[in-house]
Amino acid sequence: MDAIRIRGGRRLAGNIQVSGAKNAALPILCATLLADGPSLLRNTPALRDIDTTAALLRFLGCEVMVDKETHEVRVPTTKLTRAEAPYELVKQMRASVLVLGPLLARNGRAKVSLPGGCAIGARPIDQHLKGLEAMGATIKLERGYVIADGPTSPGGSGGGRLRGAEIAFDLPTVTGTENLMMAAALAKGRTTMWNCAREPEVEELGRVLNKMGARVEGAGTDVIKIEGVEQLAPFDHAIIADRIEGGTYMIAGAAVDGSDVRVDGIILEDLEALVLKMRQAGVQIERDGPGVRVRREGPLKPVNVTTAPHPGFPTDMQAQFMVLMTRARGESVMTETIFENRFMHVPELQRMGAHIEIHGRSAVVHGQDKLEGASVMATDLRASASLVIAGLFAEGETEVRRVYHLDRGYEKMEQRLSAVGADCERVKGAEG
Ligand code: EPZ
Repeated sequence: MDAIRIRGGRRLAGNIQVSGAKNAALPILCATLLADGPSLLRNTPALRDIDTTAALLRFLGCEVMVDKETHEVRVPTTKLTRAEAPYELVKQMRASVLVLGPLLARNGRAKVSLPGGCAIGARPIDQHLKGLEAMGATIKLERGYVIADGPTSPGGSGGGRLRGAEIAFDLPTVTGTENLMMAAALAKGRTTMWNCAREPEVEELGRVLNKMGARVEGAGTDVIKIEGVEQLAPFDHAIIADRIEGGTYMIAGAAVDGSDVRVDGIILEDLEALVLKMRQAGVQIERDGPGVRVRREGPLKPVNVTTAPHPGFPTDMQAQFMVLMTRARGESVMTETIFENRFMHVPELQRMGAHIEIHGRSAVVHGQDKLEGASVMATDLRASASLVIAGLFAEGETEVRRVYHLDRGYEKMEQRLSAVGADCERVKGAEG
């Protein structure tokens, strides 16, 4: 397994271009199942999760070509030979559950492995399933799989066309909203969904579905209305920038003394909660041409953060902001309300000398001057990124192991950081 080795203390200066948004690319790749080909995704990040999704689409019978140089993914054909997402693929990436809605809408039947939990939490999909049942699907759980069947036509068997429905989510769920948007796009009649997730990636999926000929209103707000249509067409779409990747590099620029970094491609409005908290901590953030310039003179101030669904503070930025707060002059409290186990970066940071106490869903961070470089273990995608940031300012050498977690969501992170002055490199085949 690879590791990333970092020697801390080098100021960062220069521009970092972010890639296309992973969490927009994944549902949009699954949306190709709703139409025949050829569809084309541009500005698609070169990540493990994209490769996993491509493998899943191929397993279903699609032709998929991923070009990591041009960042294009072509889906020439989507002729289904199967309607099953097997455990071997779904366990690698729980977002594979996003084929459930499209398969049911296109094919009338679907068999998708339950994603199971992951490092950060149980991650149930009850909201996805309740919504599909409201649209007339029959859902059975058998031996770890969701067996979904379209409505039974009079006198016929199942596998019929979904029907529009009124759906109220018990809580905002990003992939739940996306799964049901894709199912409703081809359903018969109107679907109205309340308490939807409002993430920019949900809005981006709505744009693509409308490009395909769907009639989606309100994507990106908490109420989404969809008039089902008979058929959808393939699309050509360039994906929005990855706001979480961008926010991660903004934190890196704020964390390392004396840095002056411009993060290019991100849409500042999609990160308002993060920007507000960083500014409260004493970080200077301003638009600068195609990007966002991040600098800091003087010490960081402690700031309390509670994660919340968008537009609240993103849970995917919690670990990174916590690392920033280890440098603040005083005590701050980070509260994680979305996932039940998203503090696994804390024991690793404690190995680097951080003073952090966990009390249930909150972590109290006692700011201090420095961390010491150490060998640490990546556990999940964003925790890995936070350990790399810590290594950038820790004294001495840090080795972040099991960076396959990082490769799921960050394209060439060590190259992008080296290009702005960090002393870091990838160590192939390091021990796990
Ligand atoms: C999406 O996951 C993102 N992944 C996650 O990003 C992100 O952390 C998360 O949204 C929250 O913003 C993708 O978009 C591919 P949820 P998702 O359904 O959709 C509960 C990353 O780092 N819930 O919005 O799986 C759930 O347990 C990843 O890129 C139910 O109870 O998250 C959680 O507590 C990590 N029942 C909360 O809702 C359901 O049916 C939010 O989960 C669905 C969710």
